[in-house]
Amino acid sequence: MPAEKSSLRNQVPQGAEGDVNSSPYRRDWQSGRINAEARVILDKDSRYFLRQSVSTPCLNTIKKAEGIWIEDHSGKRYMDFHGNNVHHIGYSHPRLIEAINRQMQTLSFAPRRYACDVAAELAEKLADISPGSLSKLLFTTGGSDAIEVALKMARTATGRFKTISFWDSFHGAGFGASSVGGEEMFRGGSIGPLLPGTEHVPPFGDYRNAWGVREGSADLCARQIRYVLEKEGDVSAVIAEPSRAVPYIAAPGFWQQVREACNEFGALLIFDEIPTGLGKTGKLFACDHDEVVPDILVIGKSLGGGILPIASVICKPELDVAEHYAYGHYTHEKNPVTTRAALTTIEIIEDEGLVENAAVVGQYALQRLEEMMESHPLIGDVRGRGFLFGVELVTDRDSREPANDAADRVLYRALDKGLSFKTTMGNVLTFTPSLITTQSDMAFALNVIDESLGEVENELGFN
Ligand SMILES: Cc1ncc(COP(=O)(O)O)c(C=O)c1O
Repeated sequence: MPAEKSSLRNQVPQGAEGDVNSSPYRRDWQSGRINAEARVILDKDSRYFLRQSVSTPCLNTIKKAEGIWIEDHSGKRYMDFHGNNVHHIGYSHPRLIEAINRQMQTLSFAPRRYACDVAAELAEKLADISPGSLSKLLFTTGGSDAIEVALKMARTATGRFKTISFWDSFHGAGFGASSVGGEEMFRGGSIGPLLPGTEHVPPFGDYRNAWGVREGSADLCARQIRYVLEKEGDVSAVIAEPSRAVPYIAAPGFWQQVREACNEFGALLIFDEIPTGLGKTGKLFACDHDEVVPDILVIGKSLGGGILPIASVICKPELDVAEHYAYGHYTHEKNPVTTRAALTTIEIIEDEGLVENAAVVGQYALQRLEEMMESHPLIGDVRGRGFLFGVELVTDRDSREPANDAADRVLYRALDKGLSFKTTMGNVLTFTPSLITTQSDMAFALNVIDESLGEVENELGFN
């Protein structure tokens, strides 16, 4: 391989994610825990899949996924506090499986030019439950594609092409989504120029931010967005997650400030609720907490009930301005089976009171995590809302030095005790449980976190 190519391969993005494939703790954890059957699968997986960070090679194998649990090939079960945010209704929900099976036997595909009842019914349902007047929509097979559609709609409706988004954000894998995203892991390497005009601003977050302040970062962030909107003058849209994935919850009034600035300078507001939509934060949409209605809302992940891939872009009716083009013309756009899965998933969320469960049990969990700060010097900050939590680990509370190594150790300790989650930015333990998680399930998970933190603190001489 030419020298210049191999040096490009050696560039390693820092900081975006935590439990990357190269972690020494991952190697140690695997030894002795992966049985022969699992080894065969892992070897085949890494032989054939292109290697990529945080994905291939894999940590472990999965044999079963049911409710809030996943199980590996040695029969060990893990409560899944990550689930890629697809598992709002729990894995393999029997009512969803039955609905999908029935749909497959009735009508399994809708070719172009043929409307089908279930896709139309889902569209009507989403228009019904979406905030404000959001009611015209398209379906895609994944969140990244839905973001591409949203960006095209915003460009067409405004006649402008620039965007403002946050550094450190993730909006998907496509070129548009990577361009508005702000993580090196998904933008860098040698993929070449990204979309022009994708301006970024530092994100809000009082614990850690670009301005070095310990409070008021949301106000500074909102002012910066307004400033860039004004200076650029022709921005098509501000695109962001209303609750940041790290996670950081927006300060009260932040999104109102951004909404007003967008209105003043003629930009649209796009909310990416691909992970948070349908109840993760204890309201149906994260933006409901702020009572701010975006012009375009993007949802996905849990919409397919953890079984099928489907996402949606939902707009204000006045953005329905691209009838001579086909920005969302995907093969499985109005697939009866994926749309049946989505419709049934929403019905399950409503019938089982899952949004309320996330609000109530989430409040209990947040309080217990905050109490853990008293006994765990490793915890620098606890943040969250509903079933979205971040526990930020630091080596020292005054300097707030990120404790990436400790976070990695805690993750593997917790795995051994039956709890699976991911870290974000290297040092933030990030918990996104299924919305069916009960208070006693939550108590189990919190005990695991408590014990794992204690063990790692002992190991590192904290106590
Ligand atoms: C905030 C956000 N936007 C977009 C996406 C992309 O969705 P998908 O993986 O379905 O393409 C993700 C996926 O993790 C996400 O978290």
